[in-house]
Amino acid sequence: MEYHDLVKRAKKSMQYAHAPYSNFRVGAALLCESGTIYTGSNIEVSSYSLTICAERVALFKAISEGEKKFSAIAVVSDDTEFTPPCGACRQVLWELAGDIDVIMGNSRGDLEITKLHTLLPEPFTAKHLQRARKRHK
Ligand code: THU
Repeated sequence: MEYHDLVKRAKKSMQYAHAPYSNFRVGAALLCESGTIYTGSNIEVSSYSLTICAERVALFKAISEGEKKFSAIAVVSDDTEFTPPCGACRQVLWELAGDIDVIMGNSRGDLEITKLHTLLPEPFTAKHLQRARKRHK
């Protein structure tokens, strides 16, 4: 699968990052099975923990537009190192997007492609909640 366009879209989205506190700018582009791409950038607020990552912006935009199936997400920053999705984003992506391809890009133009399950090998899922519900019936 050629992810050149997806990475390009993620890079473009990075320019809209609102990162006045960290100066760490991230762009993401999520490819839906429908073929549509949704982009996102990180958005920081002065109460730091309310900040949202680029990946979740892209995913929530897509879901709020009716998308349900996804194939890949590209994540880029202006750093020379790859930017792997944070733990919170891995969890949210697993739950809402499934085992998609994750493409990481750096400022040198290198790409690394992996599957989400390699980044989140033992996810907590809704199945665990179901078992707890049954136990308490
Ligand atoms: N950030 C992302 O947007 N995605 C990641 O995968 C890693 C971290 C953002 C959150 C925050 O605005 C900044 O990068 C520094 O943590």
